[in-house]
Amino acid sequence: MKRVLTGIKPTGHSHIGNYFGAIKPAIEFTQNQDNQCFYFIADYHALTTLENKQQMIDYTYDIACTWLACGLDADKVVFYKQSDIPETFELNWILCNVTPKGLMNRAHAYKACVEKNQEAGVDKDFGVNMGLYNYPILMAADIILFDSDIVPVGLDQKQHVEIARDIADYFNRKFGKTLKLPDVYIQPETATLVGLDGRKMSKSYGNTIGLFTTEEQLRKSINRIVTDSRMPGEPKDLNCTLFKLYSLFAGKEKSKLFGQQLQEGLGWGEAKKQLFEVANEYIKPMREKYFYYQNHRDEVDKILADGAAKARAIAQKTIQRVRKSIGVK
Ligand code: ADP
Ligand code: TRP
Repeated sequence: MKRVLTGIKPTGHSHIGNYFGAIKPAIEFTQNQDNQCFYFIADYHALTTLENKQQMIDYTYDIACTWLACGLDADKVVFYKQSDIPETFELNWILCNVTPKGLMNRAHAYKACVEKNQEAGVDKDFGVNMGLYNYPILMAADIILFDSDIVPVGLDQKQHVEIARDIADYFNRKFGKTLKLPDVYIQPETATLVGLDGRKMSKSYGNTIGLFTTEEQLRKSINRIVTDSRMPGEPKDLNCTLFKLYSLFAGKEKSKLFGQQLQEGLGWGEAKKQLFEVANEYIKPMREKYFYYQNHRDEVDKILADGAAKARAIAQKTIQRVRKSIGVK
């Protein structure tokens, strides 16, 4: 039996990068009966970016409904909100005390802020709060609390899982073997999905294709995909965003055919229409479920409350073990 755990923070509407990079691989793990899966909404992690209370409420439901719409079966998966598990924050504090400050200085989100500030000629810590700085420790607590074996994430989160592993190891060296060391899992084909402009698809770049928008918005987003200036009739390079996205939504056979058409000169306008068709067909049944849950938030609340009860029972045992190791009863 392997424990598989992952979280998504509610910082915006989910996009197809989140789906193919994180949600879909995570749902696939739940289909193997040898896995015990823990999937959660990392709401306290979202505090580093959220601007107000309403965003916290809306984005939390957005992520919850997204997971459920994408096929998470709450009878098989322990599905909960991070904020419902107070043991996380107790473990977070304990882990702070075995985490070298230098390790946090090297964490990429913080390092990126420092580099940006240095380029702008302002204080290196300008705009950095302790939530951002300690972010990897809280993530380590999320992971370690459930004795996780495997953490499926997108490539951008790899370093954080490695940090969690280091932190568990520091703890074990100091207090004796207590914590399990997690392994990261990255699905190779979808490690980094490209966005409308060809860069990594990310909310922070504003280049996303929303997962659960209206059909019209989906069409509009697809029409905004940047292409080169090759005219209809000219062969297209298959190393393009359009083809990459098409291949994710369509099966092998269909993608092969689409690739051939592009190489034979299919125009970008027509190619976008075809991409819309396969994407919409793929998303449609999930979209209906998504809006069902959005309109039945009481059901979502109940699912998350049940999940939190199951998760806490496990979290409490880990915390007792940790307390014992550090000499606190
Ligand atoms: P964003 O970059 O849009 O803010 P998040 O940081 O909220 O996305 O990511 C949530 C999950 O989705 C993470 O596991 C992350 O690795 C994955 N993910 C996000 N963007 C992509 C992408 N472009 N390709 C693959 N996975 C992604
Ligand atoms: N930091 C992750 C992200 O930005 C979200 C997250 C929080 C997470 N805690 C986690 C992912 C624990 C995996 C395991 O996407």
